[in-house]
Amino acid sequence: MSQLKPYENHRDISSPNRNIAPITTEINENNQLVVGGCVISDLAKRYGTPLYILDEATIRASCKAYKSSLEKYYKGDSLPIYASKANSSLVISSIISSEGLGLDAVSEGELITALKGGLKGENIVLHGNNKSKHELQLAYNNKVKIIIDNYHDIEILKSIVPSEGTAAEVMLRFTPGIECHTHEYIRTGHLDSKFGFDPEELEKVLIDLKNYSFVRLIGLHAHIGSQIFELQPHIDLVGVMVEALKLARKLGHPVSDLNIGGGLGIKYINSDDPPSIENWIKVISEALNSSCSENNISLPRLMCEPGRSLVATSGITIYEIGSRKDIPGVRTYLSVDGGMSDNPRPITYQSEYSACLLDKPFSKTEEKVTIAGKHCESGDVLLKDFALPKSKSGDFLGVFGTGAYNFSMSSNYNRIPRPAAVIVSNGHAEIIQRRELSEDLLRYDLLPDRFITND
Ligand SMILES: Cc1ncc(COP(=O)(O)O)c(C=O)c1O
Repeated sequence: MSQLKPYENHRDISSPNRNIAPITTEINENNQLVVGGCVISDLAKRYGTPLYILDEATIRASCKAYKSSLEKYYKGDSLPIYASKANSSLVISSIISSEGLGLDAVSEGELITALKGGLKGENIVLHGNNKSKHELQLAYNNKVKIIIDNYHDIEILKSIVPSEGTAAEVMLRFTPGIECHTHEYIRTGHLDSKFGFDPEELEKVLIDLKNYSFVRLIGLHAHIGSQIFELQPHIDLVGVMVEALKLARKLGHPVSDLNIGGGLGIKYINSDDPPSIENWIKVISEALNSSCSENNISLPRLMCEPGRSLVATSGITIYEIGSRKDIPGVRTYLSVDGGMSDNPRPITYQSEYSACLLDKPFSKTEEKVTIAGKHCESGDVLLKDFALPKSKSGDFLGVFGTGAYNFSMSSNYNRIPRPAAVIVSNGHAEIIQRRELSEDLLRYDLLPDRFITND
């Protein structure tokens, strides 16, 4: 395993969101892709395909970048929390906890995964625009901070918290009037969003909350979008949030936490150029440091909620190439053994990815191919007109940047079982999610007696 070459020429080890491949990616002397010290095509043979791979070092480096940057640039207390909707599992929860981050959950499932993975309730926040009574009860019992999204949450909490019991610690989510999707953003008075309180409602709800002893408002929250490359929207967000903080404190709320959400983008393809984690945190921290000083208010604890930028580039999905269809003058389709059920992002958002053949990642590209999934859907395409070396059936293809919103958004469309997931580190590979079997998919089917035929 000597003479390994780095995969990308300008790899940013301190900000993994700026690389396409995991930070430990190398090419060995046999021209094979190696991640976390493991030859990836060997893992494909050992564990089968499709296969999700996660590089532990990349996740840990991202956590460290958020933590150390906050410590370096923000003058008050801080806590980065991981938006576990990006990829929720016991192992990731355990890594997040051991790196000293908190976690954002949006359902009972994400909540119990975080708790069982080792996170303390007080370092978890519960989101959701329609939380059930059961989810709120679970959060309250475990001292999880509840992000109040609407009056429905408040009504349920009233029925949960015993009259002599400890008040639930809550944060209030509002829509800040900044809408940001990928490369563009707009500022509006109101947002057409199902999440959080409208800015016009903010004062009323803050006044109402003062009258309720079953809740204690300790924080404010806003989130403006995802896969964002610009810095200005978050600077503007800080300004809006400081105004809300002043109002809440003026009304007597002991607000100590300001949660500015997630959203930092990652590099999926060569032309993507997201800011580094350090720069993102620096800009936000400086905006908040100076805004608090100008307004003569004490610094809140600064929280942020990155999902994608913490885990996406730790992930690669491995497929085996199967059939080939050449349509002269139109395009060539190569079909793989997975697709939209393990990665719904291309068909949902027209997202683009980068890929390579595992056993000739650097070979000269010879043809443009369209990588199609195996699902019964014409739009089930993972990469369109992508340049690859010549390949044959049985070769393995690795698609980069699949650590976020792939497994967590996967489905069983066409009754296709979910892939296994493996974590790699220092030459070891460990299964963290068992491969589903087709029989598993029948677990919840029932066939009432009258449908059972004897012949
Ligand atoms: C409330 C909230 N926080 C955090 C995130 C994480 O965002 P990202 O993965 O872009 O960092 C999201 C994602 O949409 C979100 O809705």
